[in-house]
Amino acid sequence: MNNTKTIIRNYWDCRSSTFDRSPGHVIASEKEEKAWKSLFQEKIGGGAREILDIGTGTGFLSIMLAEMGYRVVGLDLSEEMLERAEKKALGRGVEVEFKPGDAENLPFETGSFDAIVNRAVLWTLPDPKKALAEWRRVLKPGGRLCFFLHEPHTDGITDRFRRQLGNMVILTMERRNPWNQLHNSGKLGVELPFRGGVAPPVITKLLEGSGFERVAAEPMAEIGRLKREGMPLYSKISSGKHLQYCYTAINPDRGKIS
Ligand SMILES: C[S@@+](CC[C@H](N)C(=O)[O-])C[C@H]1O[C@@H](n2cnc3c(N)ncnc32)[C@H](O)[C@@H]1O
Repeated sequence: MNNTKTIIRNYWDCRSSTFDRSPGHVIASEKEEKAWKSLFQEKIGGGAREILDIGTGTGFLSIMLAEMGYRVVGLDLSEEMLERAEKKALGRGVEVEFKPGDAENLPFETGSFDAIVNRAVLWTLPDPKKALAEWRRVLKPGGRLCFFLHEPHTDGITDRFRRQLGNMVILTMERRNPWNQLHNSGKLGVELPFRGGVAPPVITKLLEGSGFERVAAEPMAEIGRLKREGMPLYSKISSGKHLQYCYTAINPDRGKIS
């Protein structure tokens, strides 16, 4: 593993113990969970069986998908994240295969999966273009890509003030140091092109340039609203209102899945 990946892995290993304390990272309500599951039904559908969740973290997407009956592999660079994901899956009574690995150099044969999903992962990667080429490689022909990513954080004076205020509360409420973030990756000596979020046209262009077809980007207004509804006030203040987008695309056809 190169030095950059070791720094990134160490960061997420440390972050794993506090990751699920952040209200934005976990399911806020039954309504939110229902909304995610119906989104998967719409975007992935019943034709897919084998799903790869890249950068699964503590298993947010993997566990929901396994509950829906898919066969899921949850991959992550951080083994400490995977340990937590495994415990959560066990607690929810579902089976997921958790596997260590790198999103930019996947440990799978070409054409292994019907669908690939992930949430909040592309911003954590030093080479998103390389990652997309890898994701396409391990998708079956006609396979579906569906991932979630935030638009850029707004960065005016009020936004910075709001974030600083929120961070001070996070320090006590979540018992972690919110200033030590991979968003401030310059401090860690790592360059991440999409840190701080990315505008949808940048991603759609990248997907098309990587050979994906039927590329679409949709704001996740309803899930965003349900998530905020269930959040404590400090979290609403610190997270601001930047939307998460749902990106979908297809690996070009040679015998589609339904
Ligand atoms: C912001 S967290 C999102 C976790 C999870 N997808 C979720 O939504 O709760 C980013 C995750 O990506 C993982 N990650 C970062 N770089 C990676 C890489 N090169 N390969 C695989 N996973 C990676 C981190 O360990 C972390 O678990």
